[in-house]
Amino acid sequence: MLKGKKILLCVTGSIASYKSVLLVRLLVKNGAEVQVIMTDAAKDFIAPLTFSTLSQNNVLSELSNEEGWANHVMLGRWANVILIAPASCNTIARIAHGFCDNLLQAVYLSATVPVFVAPAMDEDMWLHPATRQNIETLKKNGNKIINVNKGELASGLTGEGRMAEPEEILKELETFFSAASDLKGKVALVTAGPTYEAIDPVRFIGNHSSGKMGIAIAKELQSRGANVRLILGPTNLDVPSGVDSVKVTSADEMYDATFNNFATVDIIVMAAAVADFKPEKIADQKIKKGPRQTLSIKLAKTRDILARAGELKSKKQILVGFALETEKGNDNALAKLSAKNADLIVLNSLEDEGAGFGHDTNKISVFAREGKVVHFEKKSKQEVAADIVDIIINLKK
Ligand code: CTP
Repeated sequence: MLKGKKILLCVTGSIASYKSVLLVRLLVKNGAEVQVIMTDAAKDFIAPLTFSTLSQNNVLSELSNEEGWANHVMLGRWANVILIAPASCNTIARIAHGFCDNLLQAVYLSATVPVFVAPAMDEDMWLHPATRQNIETLKKNGNKIINVNKGELASGLTGEGRMAEPEEILKELETFFSAASDLKGKVALVTAGPTYEAIDPVRFIGNHSSGKMGIAIAKELQSRGANVRLILGPTNLDVPSGVDSVKVTSADEMYDATFNNFATVDIIVMAAAVADFKPEKIADQKIKKGPRQTLSIKLAKTRDILARAGELKSKKQILVGFALETEKGNDNALAKLSAKNADLIVLNSLEDEGAGFGHDTNKISVFAREGKVVHFEKKSKQEVAADIVDIIINLKK
């Protein structure tokens, strides 16, 4: 399963680093190519020679030495995944806050590949609010945290905080690499962000959508192997690397970009907050205030992209719509599912705290045909994206 996979294993100062010796053996035995980075503190526990012998690669530690400079940017790109195991409390805190004072942190900050973090520490440190926050930050930044185990700890106490066993870490990587090909060869189209409907050359009607949810979905679909086309309304957020994007402003532009080559798409996820109405006429010049006390602008309906996609879609295409509701969420979501001929409707209700526009978290329910519904807890938008993509993949099976 790991044949030909390149794994950059970063070892930090923890007694659990003895397990990483076994882990390197296991990874190499399963066909992976392993490059080890050690922090100075890690060398107090294990000699670099142990790792270099098992990985058949020189161990790297220094950002620079007399012979030159370790290319941290290229290391982060060489790998298919970065695995920090064991990740000490200190390293977790430093990477969560963007510190860059050793090779590991420089590689982490310049990494463009998925990062797995296998924490190891005593229970009190693990449960401390500062560590909890750091772990949440890493999750929010898209890192995958490998669950710690309960058991005997270095302090002699028993509790939570033991690094996962080498076999468990191997399994996690195998699951990741197999999921990475779930949507191989599939084309996915995602709409995201708000639309701006011009009133005159300087004003528009818009909404508070940030585009975060749709961008997280695009990133997730790509990480499962799909070729992703992102149709993105106005936002300051960056497009994930490798995702093909078309930037649009208005609902009309989003409509045209969506139906360009629509038949070639396998999965359509409409996360955009498209304006339902636009000014009937766009004034040629800036509208002057003048002596009037009120101003009426006549609005005309925009074309409903999701509804049109529902009309056009073939049996093989999967169509996912969103519903943002302030009341009667379940009823409205179900009504949208059939009215728009979608396969799934993702409901985020503005009645729930931490859900909807601008937040880094979301709380969703997913409605499918035949009355099936799954309710999820509040999670980071990247985790929500993973839940949605899991459901899409299960629909395809
Ligand atoms: N949508 C769309 N084109 C539009 C309006 C909405 O594609 N012109 C899509 C959104 O991207 C979302 C879904 O329709 O996936 C639902 O959007 P929402 O605003 O919640 O619902 P509407 O259909 O606009 O209905 P209402 O505003 O009455 O709730």
